[in-house]
Amino acid sequence: MDLLQLDNVSVAYDQQYILKDFNLSIEKGHLISLLGPSGCGKTTTLRLIAGFLEATDGKFSFGGQDYTRVPINKRNFGFVFQSYALFPHMSVFDNIAFGLRQRKVKEDEIKRRVMSMLDVVSLGGFEKRFPQALSGGQRQRVAIARALVIEPDLLLFDEPLSNLDANLRVNMRVEIRRIQQELGITTVYVSHDQEECFSISDRVAVMNKGIIEQLDKPSVIFQYPKSEFVARFIGFNNFIDFQEREDEGSFFSLRSGDDHFHAAKVPGMPVSMKGAIRPDDIIAGTLEEIQAGDNVLTGKVKVSTYLGRSYQYVVVTPLGEFTVNKEMQQPYLSGQEIRLLFPSEKLVLVE
Ligand SMILES: Nc1ncnc2c1ncn2[C@@H]1O[C@H](COP(=O)(O)OP(=O)(O)O)[C@@H](O)[C@H]1O
Ligand SMILES: [Mg+2]
Repeated sequence: MDLLQLDNVSVAYDQQYILKDFNLSIEKGHLISLLGPSGCGKTTTLRLIAGFLEATDGKFSFGGQDYTRVPINKRNFGFVFQSYALFPHMSVFDNIAFGLRQRKVKEDEIKRRVMSMLDVVSLGGFEKRFPQALSGGQRQRVAIARALVIEPDLLLFDEPLSNLDANLRVNMRVEIRRIQQELGITTVYVSHDQEECFSISDRVAVMNKGIIEQLDKPSVIFQYPKSEFVARFIGFNNFIDFQEREDEGSFFSLRSGDDHFHAAKVPGMPVSMKGAIRPDDIIAGTLEEIQAGDNVLTGKVKVSTYLGRSYQYVVVTPLGEFTVNKEMQQPYLSGQEIRLLFPSEKLVLVE
């Protein structure tokens, strides 16, 4: 059952709509990410759910109740922000205890809950420290403990890891997922980092200009983006415009210029005139290795860059430029003629 539901919600700043007829539902116990470029409305959505902002239209339901006008202090939600916003003059213990004291919980009960939460975030023994004596990752864990200790009905994260360095970000996202699953807390997680969202979410909502373009399991979005926007955002940077399409039952037959392609038919995916494919999924080879035919283009290497594991080539073909990655010892030369094979199961049609 859905715990949280936004129905046709609109939010405007200065008569300008940021969210318009926005819909989102989240199953109990799930972690859902809002993923999208800066300015697409992720924080606005989170602020609306938290209660910092009121919708001009629409309905917000939570646990079967109408929460649209429920004030922020009556929503038992926990927040973790990018800037951890710890109280600098309070110890770790007092920072975590803050919400419990506000709720007039008894001191011995506070002690028990704070100490057990310190264990959950692996900070046992740090209770007397002050925030300035903690690393960035430790501070963020205190912020998470502070949000969790009130046993929130919903946990809201807004780019919680963007101030941490790369290694710590990876460790912390594993921690967040572990804690969230252990406690079974329904969570909305905002980030502009694709890998971060994909790695920890049950569902990802890809947002563009105040709307959700696609909401799916991470593995589905990764393979089957529905729109050009989603495709570009997750790294499908090769596109083909087709002029003709035939439905052949289990696949589509497509034509672009003088070239012919097959694309696998995927239930639920758009039927359009635009194909998309990842640089990793195009197979590059010499003229001897790949024969001309359907799903094959011949082109010239224009740019070659070394990516570490592989080389990346920009190849000029009759249908435009394509970017392809290939693991190899000796790279192709600039100007060399090669062929590109577009496997039909990797070529997806997008809106
Ligand atoms: N307080 C505000 N007043 C006016 N416009 C705002 C305000 N907050 C955000 N916006 C605008 O709303 C849009 C969405 O912002 P935001 O939700 O913060 O995006 P994101 O978190 O995805 O980067 C942006 O165009 C931003 O400029
Ligand atoms: Mg934001």
